[in-house]
Amino acid sequence: MGLSPIALAAEQLDLHYGGRPVLHQVSVAFRRGAVTALCGPNGSGKSSLLRALCGLAPVTGGRVLVNDRPTADLPPRDLARRLAILPQTPEVPAGITVRELVGFGRHPHLGLLRRPGPEDRQAVDWALEKTLLHPLADRPVALLSGGERQRAWIAMTLAQRTGILLLDEPTTYLDIRHQHDVLTLIRRLNREEGLTVIWVLHDLNQAAAYSDALVLLRDGTVVADGPPESVLTPECLKQVFDLDVVLARHPLSGALLCLPADLPGAAG
Ligand SMILES: Nc1ncnc2c1ncn2[C@@H]1O[C@H](COP(=O)(O)OP(=O)(O)OP(=O)(O)O)[C@@H](O)[C@H]1O
Ligand SMILES: [Mg+2]
Repeated sequence: MGLSPIALAAEQLDLHYGGRPVLHQVSVAFRRGAVTALCGPNGSGKSSLLRALCGLAPVTGGRVLVNDRPTADLPPRDLARRLAILPQTPEVPAGITVRELVGFGRHPHLGLLRRPGPEDRQAVDWALEKTLLHPLADRPVALLSGGERQRAWIAMTLAQRTGILLLDEPTTYLDIRHQHDVLTLIRRLNREEGLTVIWVLHDLNQAAAYSDALVLLRDGTVVADGPPESVLTPECLKQVFDLDVVLARHPLSGALLCLPADLPGAAG
């Protein structure tokens, strides 16, 4: 049987916190091998959706399918071999080094004795190399800069070697150069290894430039879903963010850019 073109799907997901609805009937399909950005205002449910997709949030209705199989049927270890998540604000365990943190990504793969083997060490080295963290491998994570720490977390999710990566605001704390490096790295892994990527990005221009598809959430429901060209319209952005925007194009790549229409200092 061939692989489904849909790597991960949510079907009519409902999620409540203390009786307050946070996700309402969310249905969305993530194409295999595609990079999809989840965007929307603060509190619209992006992180909740990401957590629900990997079984970390208690959904009250609906289901999640990975490769057409309900995730509820999969043991957590099996799920962790298919899906890796970078949470929005991960907590660093005290006293550990970068290499040890990245090694946590191997947990779902460890054998009965729970000891890392050559394959695990190889995966950790590979992830350190890809994120340019080799020189920092033996430094305590607590002593890294915000951006270095963010890369260490990304390395940990990469070391998990899953086919699907869920990244919640992977560019937080990074300067423009490191943002570009991280987004380009993930894109390259997407192209070279067929990784399916779902990332939460606040910057709509970044989302449009580096993603194949965009999903816009507002108040826990999906408002738009499709290629950047069809989602980033002034009407749609007004509806989701209650903001008037103007659209432009990147002079070299042609990627869509959107800017607030009412900028201080604008003529008029
Ligand atoms: N564990 C929780 N308990 C109670 N309420 C929660 C919990 N997690 C999230 N919420 C609430 O659910 C709503 C959606 O939160 P979520 O973190 O999914 O939003 P978000 O779109 O990721 O926002 P941001 O852009 O600020 O990261 C918010 O109103 C938040 O206060
Ligand atoms: Mg969030």
